[in-house]
Amino acid sequence: MTEIPRDQWYVAAYSSEIGHELFARTICGEPILFWRTRGGPVTAVPDRCVHRRFPLSQAPSRLVDDQVVCGYHGFTYASDGKCVAVPGQSRIPRTARLLPYPLVEQDSFVWVFIGDPAKADASAIPRAPYLDSPDYATVAGMEPLRARFSLLVDNLLDLSHETYLHGGYIGTAEVAATPITTEVDDEAGIVYVSRHMDDTECPPFYARSTGLRGRITRWQDIEYTPPCLYILHSRVAPVGSVPNPDGTDPDAFHVEVVYAITPETENSTHDFWAVARDFALEDQEVSTFLAESNRTVVLQDVAALDVLERVIATEPDGYQELSINIDTGGLAARRMLQRMARAPQAASTPS
Ligand code: FES
Ligand SMILES: [Fe+2]
Repeated sequence: MTEIPRDQWYVAAYSSEIGHELFARTICGEPILFWRTRGGPVTAVPDRCVHRRFPLSQAPSRLVDDQVVCGYHGFTYASDGKCVAVPGQSRIPRTARLLPYPLVEQDSFVWVFIGDPAKADASAIPRAPYLDSPDYATVAGMEPLRARFSLLVDNLLDLSHETYLHGGYIGTAEVAATPITTEVDDEAGIVYVSRHMDDTECPPFYARSTGLRGRITRWQDIEYTPPCLYILHSRVAPVGSVPNPDGTDPDAFHVEVVYAITPETENSTHDFWAVARDFALEDQEVSTFLAESNRTVVLQDVAALDVLERVIATEPDGYQELSINIDTGGLAARRMLQRMARAPQAASTPS
């Protein structure tokens, strides 16, 4: 089993989810309270009053200007976590303080650092620039998963399951039939898995969104930066089309499928997904279709992984699963995650 790596950045929310009101979400087992301050930045502090543990996200706790007032006995905290008022006395205990989480808003995500705040290095956060780029149109969502995060990592690193679990959406026979190549960049902390199908059926997800008819070239290039960020660079084009030597690729349609894999607890996960495309940017119908279609695909995975979590809960200790070639990406990711869980930060911030 892979433990949750600490001293790492995780996506806690989309920026658009957090406004000037109390917002709670558990990340890596830690209940966190968020709100967007009047000045603009989002603040994140433990969602637990230092007095008697009442959740500060829970009514009648409330936000007054940029201070949160505990709904139990009225301890009041500023946005930096400092307690500014307690009932019945003017002296505020020195330890009455919520330790804020390091937080960065980037690429439409709110990232928080789980672990020792002194180790937080914002430059280590992996990028997904497509999500708020004017050159892409993006649809996005988040589905709760009642399964451990490593099951979602396995799932996303091995797309052969598209053929079976996602037939009629993104799966065709050629996905499972085409071998993959796997590369691991230990220094950068990235796992790459590629599958290039040069003459393949076009699944409905791409036929309807791009207008391509007949057979296509379909490339899937995965870039996973453990623990949290996964990007599938998807390229579909007429059969025979390849990018120009200078990198331009005018005949192809590009879709960046981004997942943020954030553990909620040891056995549940926030499954953030986004689909960014570089075509039909203004076409609302295409946006609606891709949003509905991808959400359906994500829910097919969620249903399967929820079952796996229940299966794991009842299996005997020492049960051995069997791996084959399609699993090389997932196994490489597991090794990296296990190293991160053992040696915080060593795998993600090369110096
Ligand atoms: S529990 Fe918050 S003020 Fe008492
Ligand atoms: Fe899937």
